[in-house]
Amino acid sequence: MTAGDLAAALSQKIEARLFLPERELLPNLDDIYELQLAFYENLVLSEAEILHNGAYFAKAGGKYTRHFLMCTGEPLKLPDHSSSRLKSFFEKNLFRTGYATHGLFPYRGKFHPQMIKGLLNAMGLKQGEKVLDPMMGSGTVAVEASLMGIDSVGIDASPFCRFMAQTKVDTLTMPLKRAKAALINSEEVFSYFQKKVGKPAGGSKSRKRKPTGGYMEVMEPAADYVMATNRERLSERERETSETYNFLLLAYLDSAGYAERSNRKSPLEQFRAILERYLFVAEKIQAVLQGVESELGKARLLEGDARVLALENESVDGIVFSPPYSFAIDYLQNDSFHLDFLGVDGDELRQKMIGLRGQKLTEKFDCYHKDMERVLSECARVLRRGRICTIIVGTNNNQLSKILGIPAEAVRGLHELLIEIAARHDLKLVKMMSRSIVGISNTMRREYILMLQRST
Ligand SMILES: C[S@@+](CC[C@H](N)C(=O)[O-])C[C@H]1O[C@@H](n2cnc3c(N)ncnc32)[C@H](O)[C@@H]1O
Repeated sequence: MTAGDLAAALSQKIEARLFLPERELLPNLDDIYELQLAFYENLVLSEAEILHNGAYFAKAGGKYTRHFLMCTGEPLKLPDHSSSRLKSFFEKNLFRTGYATHGLFPYRGKFHPQMIKGLLNAMGLKQGEKVLDPMMGSGTVAVEASLMGIDSVGIDASPFCRFMAQTKVDTLTMPLKRAKAALINSEEVFSYFQKKVGKPAGGSKSRKRKPTGGYMEVMEPAADYVMATNRERLSERERETSETYNFLLLAYLDSAGYAERSNRKSPLEQFRAILERYLFVAEKIQAVLQGVESELGKARLLEGDARVLALENESVDGIVFSPPYSFAIDYLQNDSFHLDFLGVDGDELRQKMIGLRGQKLTEKFDCYHKDMERVLSECARVLRRGRICTIIVGTNNNQLSKILGIPAEAVRGLHELLIEIAARHDLKLVKMMSRSIVGISNTMRREYILMLQRST
């Protein structure tokens, strides 16, 4: 190769080979799977769709994308004493996690919202179609789908998840006047919830047991709204009252969770700081949405069991979910504080929770296998033909190796198990991507994205 040829080769841009020239990628895309998703977005989305729904582009045709606009500016109101590590985490993940209402409640095992947006695009979902997340957790899919004009159904066995997800979706549009007034009167609001819901334990590990009459009483007067199947019947004022109430309650539960783990700030100060952050987040996303003329997708969020979906055959256009990672996280223990507040019977719920059922580890694994067989059979039943079901799953090989009594290198990952089960239910693997997991103990290094297609 001549010196001239070498210079010419090095002057080429890989982006120019992969993407249309008028499409500019976001900064900080450093994972291969992100480039892959950007590549699929480029293939399946028109310029208008990239501007409205693209997850990995900053600009198209000279205009900024909505994702770019949604994420720029101050990401979150971080407390002044935040460590530089935390600050740099938010900077690095500016376009990945902290935008819209996703940051409202810290929920472990939560999806990476930008990835969900990219996946919904790669799955060919369009505005007006419907996506299902049968294990919605904190509702990442519902929030993303709404922002994209895609309708969604979200289901979770945990009533707390349903409450949290609904509140995150409602906050996208909720009038904020009364929540702002609540911040001015934060002392009064705080003591109202303290009486109604119970005191946070304040730095101690011990959990307060049901201090009130339970879920319905706690939710009053929002209970009707949260539990209602026909929410359209509520007057605008009733709806606003309930949405504000839920927003404040979520902030209170969030602050109570913090107060349980640390006593750095008084519970009241903690509540005020969290409420302030929630309002900041809500105002920011609402300002962006006001500048864009487009309808949000409708979200129907339910308490239910992914093993027996209360949905018609072939009624959804796509499915995205992340099952519990085998038995890595005990969701009930994690949420016990909030579930207690909501008066939920933990033992009864445990019977439904995938990954937690069974006594000994081998029995747990057996239950997990059988449960996932039922979940995938249900997914195939409700998915329209030719459409995609995407599963995001990680594997803990060390744990599995102990249970199965074989060396870690010989363990088949959970993703392989799920691919095999899916194939038995007419869901065929068409694409697999993987990403490394940062910040979790080094026993689980990779997470797999499995795109499974139902036959036509
Ligand atoms: C990995 S988390 C999902 C997190 C979610 N993707 C998010 O972004 O927040 C798994 C969820 O499955 C739920 N779950 C466990 N068993 C279930 C069942 N039988 N039916 C429905 N949901 C279940 C748990 O409550 C938990 O919220």
